[in-house]
Amino acid sequence: YPSNVQVEDNSGLGRANCRAKGGAPGFKVAILGAAGGIGQPLAMLMKMNPLVSALHLYDVVNAPGVTADISHMDTGAVVRGFLGQPQLDSALTGMDLIIIPAGVPRKPGMTRDDLFNINAGIVRTLCEGIVKNCPRAIVNLISNPVNSTVPIAAEVFKKAGTYDPKRLLGVTMLDVVRANTFVAEVLGLDPREVDVPVVGGHSGVTILPLLSQVKPPSSFTQQEIEYLTNRIQNGGTEVVEAKAGTGSATLSMAYAAVKFADACLRGLRGDAGVVECAYVDSEVTELPFFATKVRLGRNGAEEIYQLGPLNEYERVGLEKAKKELAGSIQKGISFIRK
Ligand code: NAD
Ligand code: LMR
Repeated sequence: YPSNVQVEDNSGLGRANCRAKGGAPGFKVAILGAAGGIGQPLAMLMKMNPLVSALHLYDVVNAPGVTADISHMDTGAVVRGFLGQPQLDSALTGMDLIIIPAGVPRKPGMTRDDLFNINAGIVRTLCEGIVKNCPRAIVNLISNPVNSTVPIAAEVFKKAGTYDPKRLLGVTMLDVVRANTFVAEVLGLDPREVDVPVVGGHSGVTILPLLSQVKPPSSFTQQEIEYLTNRIQNGGTEVVEAKAGTGSATLSMAYAAVKFADACLRGLRGDAGVVECAYVDSEVTELPFFATKVRLGRNGAEEIYQLGPLNEYERVGLEKAKKELAGSIQKGISFIRK
């Protein structure tokens, strides 16, 4: 490879050419599944993030091409590419934050759980790599079904004795991004002014927007509540159907992933008051994992917020969400324990 591509191959040529551009301080971030529909725009946006000093792009296909392309951007982060399982260890060594969008996406007619059989094994393998090479890294898990892949990751880390619940975060940011957008449309506001907490999990009825807690404080008719809840819960399916068999949300997901990763990096830097929703190990309900607002700090999800007051519609939604989540969590746990 040309020296500026910095793709690691068996000759070690890429590694030999790796140097810190301008010695800028920052965090080391790896994207696993970097050549995919989410991975590529995510890699581009992370290359633009001034908090990132090194960006490792790992995939089982096409990592060299994506790395060559992204590496030409005149921003601070040094980009290196890693192709295939033999290079996973090098991709992960020394990383502060790992973002995982590896795995297959849905086609129309599928549920996220239909992805379990393929993606569970992918997530397990990648998490075993994390155990070996960067057990203290913060992990942002995007691969579906998130409701099950986060418990899978936790079990892999527990088995290895490296589990730190604060450092494992299932990415539900896209639900918040969608909720902010759709609520802003109904209220006639700029979406940047709107904050909708979305709790529970990341699939169908487990996606529970708390419209009673929207900021700025707003009231909705019952018809608006039902329209918004339904649209937020089915936002993923809306995109899957519109893409008609070519994949699921990639661009809005990359945007959401970067918004969340940036919050994690600001937390790692020690910024105060960084709060986002994420699917984490939690005692907020009787379930072992649940998405709520969390405060991000130097150790990951340092504080997990309670649900706050819910109205009757949300209490009913919560019971439905918990019922479905319980099965998805158990499925993930059993996949590793069996
Ligand atoms: P994609 O098929 O376009 O890309 C996936 C990438 O993962 C591919 O490049 C593939 O080569 C790579 N990959 C497969 N096995 C791998 C392995 N063992 N190690 C490393 N990389 C591997 O899919 P996509 O559209 O980018 O979606 C990826 C995943 O993200 C899907 O599971 C999808 O359902 C999920 N997703 C989650 C959310 C969320 O809100 N959490 C949103 C959108 C999509
Ligand atoms: C989404 O919410 O867009 C993702 O989970 C992808 C999907 O399958 O819907």
